[in-house]
Amino acid sequence: MKKILVVGSLNMDCVVETPHIPQAGETVSGRTVSFIPGGKGANQAYTAGRLGGRVKMLGAVGRDDFGQALRDNLREAGVDMSEIYVLEKESTGQAFITIDDTGENSIIVIPGANGALTPELIRQNEEDLIQMIEKSDIVVMQLEIPLETVLYVKELAASLHKFIIIDPAPALSNIPDDFWKGIDYIKPNETELSILTGKHMKTHEEIIDGARIMLEKGVKNVIVTLGGKGCMLVNHDLEQLFEAPRVKAVDTTAAGDCFTAAFALALAEGNSCFEAIVFGQAASSIAVTRKGAQTSIPTREEVMSAIK
Ligand code: RIB
Repeated sequence: MKKILVVGSLNMDCVVETPHIPQAGETVSGRTVSFIPGGKGANQAYTAGRLGGRVKMLGAVGRDDFGQALRDNLREAGVDMSEIYVLEKESTGQAFITIDDTGENSIIVIPGANGALTPELIRQNEEDLIQMIEKSDIVVMQLEIPLETVLYVKELAASLHKFIIIDPAPALSNIPDDFWKGIDYIKPNETELSILTGKHMKTHEEIIDGARIMLEKGVKNVIVTLGGKGCMLVNHDLEQLFEAPRVKAVDTTAAGDCFTAAFALALAEGNSCFEAIVFGQAASSIAVTRKGAQTSIPTREEVMSAIK
């Protein structure tokens, strides 16, 4: 099986369940508060590991209880964490998440150690980094660490002819056009695609046009996730809608991370892109029926039985 390297963020999620998400100036009474392992990078590494992948993660936490808990959780999923920096002067990243009765969420992230995962830090061991990328087959990244780091690792990975998957979340509007060249897959949702392209999009045609803008920038394949409506694969040869399994969502946190990682894992196992999308959709459709980020990630058996 091919090896996956996830480069990205680790956060401890502080999750508050509330009847509705407060508007500016409003105070509401929440029901529960819980601390749950999260962070887009860690969620992806955890998912790929839990589903049986050979996964390594490059990221950073602080030397604190949250950082320890996050590393323990990844270890349980079988993720190789030899490249997780434990920083003395930084706190572990945190995400403050409110979830309302419809399962919608709003998130504020305090980057902490994630923000310190700079090119300067990882360049101190550039030889190790190059070796790490050389030994990997698929490199998966998101945008919750400094953009310069994502740009730097992507260039290295591309120069070593690695398969590159970018989950452009949280989306940024200031990504240089050059970045997209040679990326095998990106997986934005509709909002992220709007931010990346600077174009408002709602209809199928607008979404396909948006995906085509990304293809023109050099991305080989775009998978736009559409929530309960499924996802759209667009490349130079086709545009195809994959309907999502019907489920009752209670919490969409990490559903996108779960999809990306399960998709990457299925590709690592030699499946076709179509099969990998179906696997990713099955995994994320289970994740949305459960609360929390890493607490919502299914086992391989659960995903296989959902596909059947
Ligand atoms: O994608 C979900 C993740 O976003 C959460 O786990 C939270 O940590 C934020 O990074």
